[in-house]
Amino acid sequence: MSDGEVVNQGRRRFLTAATSVVGGAGAVAVAVPFVGSWNPSAKAKAAGAPILINLAKIGPGQMVTEEWRGKPVYIIRRTEEALAGLKKVEEDASIRDPASTKSVQPEYAKNETRSRNPEFMIMLGVCTHLGCAPKFRPDVGAQDLGGDSWQGGFFCPCHGSRFDLAGRVYKGVPAPINLEIPPHFYKTDTVVVIGEDGGVAS
Ligand code: FES
Repeated sequence: MSDGEVVNQGRRRFLTAATSVVGGAGAVAVAVPFVGSWNPSAKAKAAGAPILINLAKIGPGQMVTEEWRGKPVYIIRRTEEALAGLKKVEEDASIRDPASTKSVQPEYAKNETRSRNPEFMIMLGVCTHLGCAPKFRPDVGAQDLGGDSWQGGFFCPCHGSRFDLAGRVYKGVPAPINLEIPPHFYKTDTVVVIGEDGGVAS
């Protein structure tokens, strides 16, 4: 696979992601709250300015989508059950690269939960196959995604790639690597800055 096939960061796909709040044939309703964020001007955003996200209004199990550098950023508040599900998919040997050796993420997110704070997963909503926006499918046990073995995660509608709630790609799907994690840091317990490491790059 060429590099060009791996990521397509088109605006159209961002819009798809921003509206993808209901997953699959099961029509599982996923509440997406309004999340206050203190974003820079459109011009600054286009230039790649970092964005600040208020995490306080994201309920347990919910996901919001924000935009950074023209790409969708998924922010998921994971429950204890969701974190336990990450261990289960690893135990089931369902994940292609559980240690994230081949994917793109800062050093501080190269761990078992792929995060700085296990409660919040922050990653790009860009499929590593051809760049579609994976849909949020937190519905554990979804029959169309593997039944009992499905612990919640993401399903890419373009060619069927599946990812867990840490953005780790399942085996046997077209996407080659885990979803990318952007640089970020916690300004406070409830405010995260996306686009900067906060002076700690590893
Ligand atoms: S773009 Fe996601 S599976 Fe092909």
